[in-house]
Amino acid sequence: MTFGHVFFVLRESAMAGKIVAIINQKGGVGKTTTTVNLGAVLAREMGRRILLVDLDPQGSMSDHIGLDPNVTEESVYDVLVEGTRPENVIRNVLGMDAIPANLDLASAEFDLASCEDRNTRLRDALAGVRDRYDFVFIDCPPSLGMLTVCGLAAADEVVVAMEGEFLALRGISQLMQTVEKVGAALNPGLHVSGVLFCRFDGRVTLAKQVRDEVEKHFPGKVFATAIRRNIRLAEAPGMGMTILDYEPKSAGAEDYREVAREFMERNGFPGIVDVEADILASMPVPQKD
Ligand SMILES: Nc1ncnc2c1ncn2[C@@H]1O[C@H](COP(=O)(O)OP(=O)(O)OP(=O)(O)O)[C@@H](O)[C@H]1O
Ligand SMILES: [Mg+2]
Repeated sequence: MTFGHVFFVLRESAMAGKIVAIINQKGGVGKTTTTVNLGAVLAREMGRRILLVDLDPQGSMSDHIGLDPNVTEESVYDVLVEGTRPENVIRNVLGMDAIPANLDLASAEFDLASCEDRNTRLRDALAGVRDRYDFVFIDCPPSLGMLTVCGLAAADEVVVAMEGEFLALRGISQLMQTVEKVGAALNPGLHVSGVLFCRFDGRVTLAKQVRDEVEKHFPGKVFATAIRRNIRLAEAPGMGMTILDYEPKSAGAEDYREVAREFMERNGFPGIVDVEADILASMPVPQKD
């Protein structure tokens, strides 16, 4: 094995299986759109092994990737409540693995009320499969209830999805308190690693003010790229497609590519091209005799 290969393997294994919860108790801010499309770019254009977990009883993430929550039988509910192994629930779709959700999940909180380990069941279940992936993204529901707590207990990091609007910061102190409480009680080391503006209209002065305000609260955490409002991003879920399938040249696809690059950089991985260069540099140069 050459130096380049060792470097490659070390870098790969250093990042293996990072679990990222995408949260905001505010509804409709872009959590699901981000989970699906950031996952898709990382999987299909950057060669990462990605698992998506739908933790929302609405099942919108599942719908978005063509797994109809009305039809899907084996779901994250079975993993949480019935103790089904994730391997038996994982589906491979659109270049990614996914654990879907359906409406059963709405009763999980009730069904698990008397289970002491309810908050760590997802973490325990994912422990068996996380090493198969580079990143696991958990799409959390718009609440700070039990399901989001399960997601936070399972996660290494949190990305907060935010709309670039007035009131974007409303609720952020409750959100941060929840992250801190889960960190203290169940998951030391849990932290917010990123804040992503989704559905952002950068031309509006107000949105810029909001961004500056959020940067004060989360210094260094706000992704430099904001996802612009783009109708293609709103249309893709109805077709059961990622933005890469639906309109790969759209502004929405470009923005998620840029966020994916930034995400990889933040994870100490400056890009696929560099890895290829490492390997190429390590290859023996043919000698003339
Ligand atoms: N950048 C964007 N431009 C235009 N529409 C968008 C954009 N991002 C998301 N949308 C649309 O906005 C709506 C809300 O987005 P999404 O479902 O991702 O939010 P969410 O935070 O997951 O919502 P919920 O809290 O209900 O789970 C969806 O209809 C989605 O298609
Ligand atoms: Mg959602």
